[in-house]
Amino acid sequence: MPSHPSSITPAMSDMSYRGLLSLQGRVFVVLGAGQGIGEQVSHALSECGATVVCVDSDPWRAQAVAETVHGIPVSADITQASDMERVFQTASALPASGPLGLVDVVGMVIPNDLTHGTESGWSRQFQLVLDHAWLAMRVGARAMQGRGGSMVFIGSIAGTVVRSGAALAYASAKAALHHLVKGVAQDLAPQGIRVNAVAPGLTRTPRLVASNPDSFWTTEAARIPLRRVGMPSDIAAAVLFLSSPLADFVTGQILAVDGGSSLASGGGFNLAASGPAPT
Ligand SMILES: NC(=O)c1ccc[n+]([C@@H]2O[C@H](COP(=O)([O-])OP(=O)(O)OC[C@H]3O[C@@H](n4cnc5c(N)ncnc54)[C@H](O)[C@@H]3O)[C@@H](O)[C@H]2O)c1
Repeated sequence: MPSHPSSITPAMSDMSYRGLLSLQGRVFVVLGAGQGIGEQVSHALSECGATVVCVDSDPWRAQAVAETVHGIPVSADITQASDMERVFQTASALPASGPLGLVDVVGMVIPNDLTHGTESGWSRQFQLVLDHAWLAMRVGARAMQGRGGSMVFIGSIAGTVVRSGAALAYASAKAALHHLVKGVAQDLAPQGIRVNAVAPGLTRTPRLVASNPDSFWTTEAARIPLRRVGMPSDIAAAVLFLSSPLADFVTGQILAVDGGSSLASGGGFNLAASGPAPT
């Protein structure tokens, strides 16, 4: 008589899904931890037991977030290779029993259309979205060698649906980031290093809230299938999943967290004004 399927998988009853959310004994580097999505990600990782290295180019923000999550502040400009090396040296020196984690949040729109945009604006956009991700992957992969790890990058719905006009350079850089994530995931999988991205739709981050009137958010919420814009906590929850052992068999994926926006042709919302670009 054939045995019941459950009798050949006795380990299933021993699974603790709650335990798979635990990040005890793990160190996570959060690049751009100082506000918005990075700040929420730092809270989420810390609440699940991780020690968080809170990295920001603004030393006060790095310090403030590190204090609230009992993490380690690092003031660094992650577009600079020497700063990226210093960040991972700090993380590697911390006591930890588990794999090393990385979450890279840094990126913003520099409006730059084809006709009126500039060559320097195009290069700066790729530096601010793509180049530091490549650097973080290289330096991070070295630090994760022999212990395994997880990397999560913040992409965008703009890298998935076609964006043109002022968003042309930003969308192109985010699309390249999504592709880079998939390629590096393939390269690093044999070393036990997972690489994924979260692609947010329109999200109420402090920088965008400061640059856009209430009417913008109301109009855009009505265009999103779930009838609201995203919150930093929505993005942090997806990052937490991908960073945790719950996602131990997930790599090379771009997880859309956009209320269904990317299901519609055109992506379902307009580009937000994003304030001045950092110099
Ligand atoms: N808000 C949205 O609607 C939306 C939609 C899609 C994607 N995103 C993505 O979300 C991310 C931005 O999230 P946010 O708005 O919460 O963050 P943010 O732009 O407010 O910045 C987060 C932190 O990064 C720091 N930072 C900037 N440049 C840095 C550098 N060179 N080195 C170190 N730190 C640096 C800033 O000081 C800041 O504290 C970006 O990758 C963006 O493309 C946002």
